[in-house]
Order: sequence, then structure tokens, then C-alpha cells
Amino acid sequence: MTSPDLRHHGDVDAAPGLADFAVNVRVPHPPAWLRERLAAALDELGRYPSHLAELRAREAVARRHGRSPDEVLLLNGAAEGFALLPKLAPRRAAIVHPGFTEPEVAFRDAGIPVDHVLLDGDFTLPERVRSDADLTVIGNPTNPTSVLHEARRIKALPGRLVVDEAFMDAVPGEPESLAHDPDVLVLRSLTKTWGLAGLRAGYLLGDPETLARLAHGRPHWPVGSLTLEAITACCEPEALAQSAEFAKQQQRYAEHALEQLQDFVVVAPNGPFLLIRAPRGTRQALRDKGIAVRRCDTFPGLDDTYVRVAIRPPKEFAVFVDALRVVMEELA
Ligand SMILES: Cc1ncc(COP(=O)(O)O)c(C=O)c1O
Repeated sequence: MTSPDLRHHGDVDAAPGLADFAVNVRVPHPPAWLRERLAAALDELGRYPSHLAELRAREAVARRHGRSPDEVLLLNGAAEGFALLPKLAPRRAAIVHPGFTEPEVAFRDAGIPVDHVLLDGDFTLPERVRSDADLTVIGNPTNPTSVLHEARRIKALPGRLVVDEAFMDAVPGEPESLAHDPDVLVLRSLTKTWGLAGLRAGYLLGDPETLARLAHGRPHWPVGSLTLEAITACCEPEALAQSAEFAKQQQRYAEHALEQLQDFVVVAPNGPFLLIRAPRGTRQALRDKGIAVRRCDTFPGLDDTYVRVAIRPPKEFAVFVDALRVVMEELA
């Protein structure tokens, strides 16, 4: 049985009525053009998802990453990809922590032993990691540390590599992405940038043989028509141009957030969230002021002196900064 804490995510912290700095979804709902695309696809719902629509989505993803359509597996969100990983039957999996806990849940539930590669200090990867695991999972940029790891250090990790690039589209130019590398399994999410957390949309990139193993045993019509339409739409050139703009805007927001919170920030952020260090009790005190942040004591390697905060536009973020200042005075 998996510890329930590993299944804790920001959505639980963001209780109704609180200002949400806990969840990392960038926008509260999809942009108007995407809503229109999805609304137009509603007429398709009377039919089963077609092979043609599935192929179209895989082609759009393949074009976006310079891969071929048979190197793409469409998913109901990146989270589904983690649940498929035990099919690769590693003898032992290593997970780089602190990091997203769903891959660990998937392996543990399947009875596969899991080692932790624990990072600390500035949470970057060392040149060499010793482990006898035959599969390693890492997030890049990592949730919750917001560290962007160098691709060459990731490539030096032991065993088959799975890189969770759920937040890579928030990094301008995606410099350390391994989405083009045929030897690595790369997970991507479309739910954060496009406000599609409730729909579920993502994909895996990898070699066709491994993807076939992962897909084996999935139900027929594994991905619904609306998700297929969303994946196609979000990988088209107009969406990519918009996403590149968002990434630059996000970087400006991050610089601003960093300036405001210099004394607390652990690492300069690369993702749309910040890991901050604050006294025990900070999270509850913020909550009492109507502000939700993500607890971090459920991440292996962190404790309750850390919280994760979603980076929002400066005006919105000021609400968090002001509340934190008050809380710091109260706790001093
Ligand atoms: C690092 C990381 N990877 C993957 C996911 C899952 O993304 P999706 O919504 O596409 O399933 C999340 C969701 O919070 C995440 O934080």
C-alpha cells in the first residue's frame, strides 16, 4: 500500500475560498481559441474516437518535436504515463527527489522496489549518481524545486531514463529538453499551460517498441475525442508561438517574484513555481489569512520548513508577498 502522503498534490491544499498559490496550472481555464476548438469538437462526441483523429494528434506532436508519429503515445495527462511505466518491468527503479511523487506511487503499487536519489543544497544533479537501478525517473524542470537540470547530467543517470518534462514548455527555448532524444522516454503535459487539468491531455515520446509495450493492455479508445482535439490544437504552430510568449512572460514574473522574496527563495526558479524556506507554521498561518500554498513535507527530502508557491502575475503575486511578510512578523 502506498503512503497516502505520496498522493498529496497542490489541488488538496487549494481548498475552496482560498487564494490559490498551491496549484501550478498557469491559467484558470483554456484560452478562448482553444475553448472554441473544443466546443466545435463536441459534435464528434456521438462517435467513437477515430483512428484518423488519433493519427492527426500524433502527427501534430511529432512535428512539434521533430519526431515521427510512431514515436508518440497520446495520454490522458502526463500522470497516465507514470501509471504505465511498471509495464517496463524494471528490476529496481530510482527516482530523483525531491520530485513529483506519482512515478513512485506507480512503481510501489506494482511491487517494484524504489530507490531515492536524494538531492540537497541547491538541488542540482551531481556529475555521477551511484545506483544499481535499471530505470531512473527525473523531472526537468523539477517540481517542487524549480531546478532546470543539464541534459548531459540527466543522460549520465543510471539505467533507462524517463524525464518528466511537464513544465518544460514554461522554460524559454526549452534548452535542456531531451524531447528530441530517441534513447530517452520523455513525458509532456498540456494541462498546465493551457488550463486543461480537468480534461487531461499529455503524451510520451520514445522509441516505437517501448511505446508499444507501454500501450499494451490499455483499453480500446484510450484517449477521448476532446483530448485528441486538444493535443492537436496545442501542438499547432499558432499555439506554439503563444506558448513561447507565455514562457517569456513567465520568466519575467519569476524574476519579479525572486526580487520580492530573495530572503526565502531556495533556488532561482525555472518552472512556474518557487520553493521557499520559511519557519514551521508558515503554511498554516498563510492559510488562516486565506492563502493556499503547497505543503512540501510530502516530498521525500523536504520537510515542513519548505513550501512551494505558484508564480502568478506581479499584481496577483503581491497578495502572497504581503501576506508572507505579515506572517513572518507574527512568527518572529
Ligand atoms: C511534475 C509533474 N509532472 C506531471 C504532472 C501531471 O500532469 P498532467 O496534469 O498532465 O497529468 C504534474 C501535475 O501536477 C506535475 O507536477
